[in-house]
Amino acid sequence: MTQHGTAWWKSATAYQIYPRSFCDSNGDGIGDIPGIISKLDYLQDLGIGFIWLSPVFASPMVDNGYDISDYRDVAPEFGTLEDLDQLIADAKARGIGIVLDLVVNHTSDQHPWFQDARAARDAPLRDYYIWRDPAPDGGPPNDLQSSFGGPAWTLDPQTGQYYLHLFDRRQPDLNWSNHRVRAEVHDMMNWWYDRGIAGFRMDVIDVIGKEVDRGITTNGPHLHRYLQDMHRATALGRDIVTVGEAWSATPENALLYCGRDRQELSMIFQFSHITQSWDEEHGKWKPKDFDLVALKRVLNEWQAALAHDGWNSLFWSNHDLPRAVSKYGDEGVYREVSAKMLATVLHLMKGTPYIYQGEELGMTNAGFTRIDQYRDVETLNFHALQMAAGVTPEAFLHGACANSRDNARTPMQWTDAPHAGFTTGTPWLEVTANYPTINAAAALADPDSVLAHYRRLAHLRRDLPIIVHGDYLPLAEDHPQVFAYQRRLAGQRLLVVANFSAAEVAFDLPDRAAMRGRCLITNRAARDVAEGRLTLSPYEAFAILS
Ligand code: GLC
Ligand code: CA
Repeated sequence: MTQHGTAWWKSATAYQIYPRSFCDSNGDGIGDIPGIISKLDYLQDLGIGFIWLSPVFASPMVDNGYDISDYRDVAPEFGTLEDLDQLIADAKARGIGIVLDLVVNHTSDQHPWFQDARAARDAPLRDYYIWRDPAPDGGPPNDLQSSFGGPAWTLDPQTGQYYLHLFDRRQPDLNWSNHRVRAEVHDMMNWWYDRGIAGFRMDVIDVIGKEVDRGITTNGPHLHRYLQDMHRATALGRDIVTVGEAWSATPENALLYCGRDRQELSMIFQFSHITQSWDEEHGKWKPKDFDLVALKRVLNEWQAALAHDGWNSLFWSNHDLPRAVSKYGDEGVYREVSAKMLATVLHLMKGTPYIYQGEELGMTNAGFTRIDQYRDVETLNFHALQMAAGVTPEAFLHGACANSRDNARTPMQWTDAPHAGFTTGTPWLEVTANYPTINAAAALADPDSVLAHYRRLAHLRRDLPIIVHGDYLPLAEDHPQVFAYQRRLAGQRLLVVANFSAAEVAFDLPDRAAMRGRCLITNRAARDVAEGRLTLSPYEAFAILS
């Protein structure tokens, strides 16, 4: 595997598809693989190098496919295995790789492995999952909590033991300390690699090395050995990309996953820039504004940590997070300009940028104000728990409106036709009300659209090695409104300056960063000189190359 140096995935822009919400080809209200195939020209035109496809495998869809019941088949609502092979081939013909989502911390409770395992204490596959006797009082074996609320243990009455589920009770955790489980996963991964995929995104991979009896979930003692075994058994000799989802990763341990000598992963998704704006006690359910200085500190730390080894993945949003423009920009008059600003800052950092579907249109949060509009299992589980705990519906909805995962899951807005052209039927989740103005057809017709800006950024990344490989130097780290940095490569310099506020801002550019050159990209009037005191318009962002 070309793990380092000039690997193809370093100069690629990635695009995440949440299949259920992308494009429905047959009017059942659910996005599907033929729908994705019909949009490949759109994605090629955008300039992306690979697609991270959220799960399309057979699943009862408790967690929209993050609960898999057959790793080697496609869910019927998404299409067939032949459709997926077609997608892989058609994407490849356009220079686009398909990266599948590897959800192997847990399976669905409908997976045949779990069906076998739960049948008896001595069932052949009992040890594929994590079973423990009840505590002396009959309660759960320990107080581990599920990320989706409540205990991480459920009693299975058939055999009188509890099984572990770090997510919903219908997502039992696989027992990674069982070598047969690891071998099953490796076989399955090779089966997919042999079908021509470009890599895997690995769901909650930082918890597979857990030691539950000691209460250790993330970053467990066996994690890196399992990842190295996996690399050896599946990735070695293949030119693929792997990206691990690692909520617990820190700048201190990141290189254990993606350092050049580690033989583990190409890169990880870290989340410290996301969680720095979560409430310490109530997490994301109590919305809090982000603080730009803190946000910069976190992102700059990650740039420094992976400056000479490893590789960053860059993202504002995904299917679990609010929409970028709603969280960090402006949903009102500055929607387009702030969406372009956010893209500029992110895509010109060092790392591989990931666009979450619809972000390239400046799509906003869903704006749901009633609980019956939500579909997400996490939101609904927490709703039930918080209502039982006496939280008011208004307070809960206030949090959900800002941070529920459904914010990013509303259907992709293709046109101004009913249901945004996503489906001819009834969409599984309501379309956001602003689709008549915010949609791909309108963006394609406008040379100044957010979409056109993303396209420029993707093409610049392909053309300019400084964007891919240049050193990163933070500027003005304490400025409360401005995000600025410099990139340097072999005598070339790139300056990036962005105003994160709706106000006009005065910014004194440090002398060492003064620039005269060529304006590479901007969301306002072009600048080819930057020196001394700059007056930045609301949400202005520009980059100058010299
Ligand atoms: C990851 C996924 C999320 C899913 C969870 C359990 O965090 O991104 O959507 O619910 O894992 O698989
Ligand atoms: Ca469909």
